[in-house]
This record gives sequence, C-alpha cells and structure tokens, in this order.
Amino acid sequence: MSVQNSLMIEGDIAEVGMFKGGSAYLICKVKGDKGLHLFDTYEGLPETEEIDNRYFKGEFAASLEEVKHTLRDCQNVYFYKGLFPATATPVKNTKFSFVHLDVDIYKSTLECLKFFYPRMNRGGIIISHDYFFADGVRQAFHEFFTDKPEPIIPISGNQCLIVKI
Ligand SMILES: C[S@@+](CC[C@H](N)C(=O)[O-])C[C@H]1O[C@@H](n2cnc3c(N)ncnc32)[C@H](O)[C@@H]1O
Repeated sequence: MSVQNSLMIEGDIAEVGMFKGGSAYLICKVKGDKGLHLFDTYEGLPETEEIDNRYFKGEFAASLEEVKHTLRDCQNVYFYKGLFPATATPVKNTKFSFVHLDVDIYKSTLECLKFFYPRMNRGGIIISHDYFFADGVRQAFHEFFTDKPEPIIPISGNQCLIVKI
C-alpha cells in the first residue's frame, strides 16, 4: 500500500474508514514506531448523496471493541470514534507522512482531503480506495486537486494516490 515508501518521510500515519480494521492491520504490520491515527464512525457510512448511488447510510457498521482486539499487538495506535472531521481536533497540529482513505463517498472524501492536504509533509502520500468504483470518491479528488500542483495517480487495486509537493 506504499506505506513502506513513505517511512523515510517525517510525520504520523492516519486512516479514515476502518470497518473491521483489515487495512489498518496491514498498515500496522509495516509502520514501525510511527503513530497511527484511526478514524471511523463505527456506525457505518454517514448520509450519502445521489453521486454515491452504490452505497447506503449505515453500510459497513463495525464494533470499535472488535477492531481494538484485531489491532491489540499494534503500538502507538490512537482511535477516534465518530464522524470525521469533527473527530479530528486532537490531530489538528499533527503532520502526516501517509494517509489512507477508504470512506467510499463524496462528502467524506472531500472533507478528508481538506483536512489532510495542508497537514501532509512534502513527499507524503495520500492514497484512496475506490477511485474507479465510486463516482463520489473520484469526483471529490478531481474537484479538490483542480487548483493544486499534485497529479492524481491512478494505481492498481481500484486506488489512486497523490504525493505532496
Ligand atoms: C469500506 S469501509 C472501510 C473498509 C476498511 N478500510 C477495510 O479494510 O475493510 C468504509 C468505512 O468508512 C467509514 N466512514 C465513511 N465516512 C466517514 C466519516 N466521515 N467519518 C468516519 N468514518 C467514515 C464507514 O464507517 C466505514 O466503516
């Protein structure tokens, strides 16, 4: 997932969109000592819009306790339950080297980009799932990066990434 490629960049790691913690577990395996900030409602997807027609509110609900159990051997991990970006205040002064977005829908993706982009260190990576599959995710990326210098790089596995310049 490119986490290894970002380890030499200073900053913490974040994921928004955990569900049962599958991708967070993979990040944990390779992140070393870096702080990992994990965000999810644990009540599933928030309100969707017309562009998010593949998804519905409440989809992917999960249990925070189960996720904590899955990640029990992972060090320097911080959990934030609730709707992002309202839950992001504790990391408003944090800089990031790697951010994984897996939120499926337009508004969540746009809010994540607005929050993390200015907090990425140079060379840091934002990667998102569902770039090809979810119209809302793709729309949010195109809208947000229209006036930014970073190209959106589509990659295999239904993902896209940007590297902060
Ligand atoms: C497809 S699931 C994530 C899958 C996960 N990465 C995995 O490895 O299985 C999408 C998740 O995004 C979360 N989500 C979407 N928008 C959110 C927001 N604004 N704040 C917090 N969580 C959000 C949902 O609760 C859901 O758990």
